[in-house]
Amino acid sequence: MREMDPSSGEPSAISRRSFLKGATQVAAAGGIIQATAAGAPAEVVDPEVETLSGTSSLELLVNGKARSVEVQPRTTLLHALRTHMDPPLTGTKEVCGTGSCGACTVLIDGQPAYSCLSLAVTCAGRPVTTVEGFGSADAMSDVQQAFCDKDGMMCGFCTPGFVVATHAALDRSPKASLDELKYELSGNFCRCGTYPHVFDAAAAVQEDRARGEEGR
Ligand code: FES
Ligand code: FES
Repeated sequence: MREMDPSSGEPSAISRRSFLKGATQVAAAGGIIQATAAGAPAEVVDPEVETLSGTSSLELLVNGKARSVEVQPRTTLLHALRTHMDPPLTGTKEVCGTGSCGACTVLIDGQPAYSCLSLAVTCAGRPVTTVEGFGSADAMSDVQQAFCDKDGMMCGFCTPGFVVATHAALDRSPKASLDELKYELSGNFCRCGTYPHVFDAAAAVQEDRARGEEGR
């Protein structure tokens, strides 16, 4: 809703909300705002701020396929995956959006990373693996199957991040102890408290893979 200018009684040209929004964007970019004597907004003096609203094309390598996206410099990998792709990859979840919960975990260059803290532009040309890259509902990976078999989920919001992190942990340390697995997965939180089932699932995968190794 447009705010009123108290001196004229007319609608204000710039609302308090839009002023604050613009100020925040500039501050985040390290720019400077010069207020006029009358307290009127804001002349932006950092020319780089202009580029924050522009978009650029880039190619992401997601689950082995090149995917073109149009993104702003500030677009996170999480949002590029979920909302900038056609078709979108919505398996990766946003819960906190601030690097606290691990729901958005993907692999970048084979290493687990929070996609909500990774800018899409920094991932151009680097291999990114999302939960969809490990398997599908019709052909689940061993970790995905174990999460189902061991009831490793309730609401399921944390589950894609846990699945990706568990794949990474077991690939890196196939014989990891329970304590080591707890450490490896310590960046992933589950508000529903499914941790015992998650670790049961990881142990089941370890046993199956060990049996597979012996059978060769
Ligand atoms: S959504 Fe990325 S860490 Fe929580
Ligand atoms: S299953 Fe609900 S947050 Fe983990």
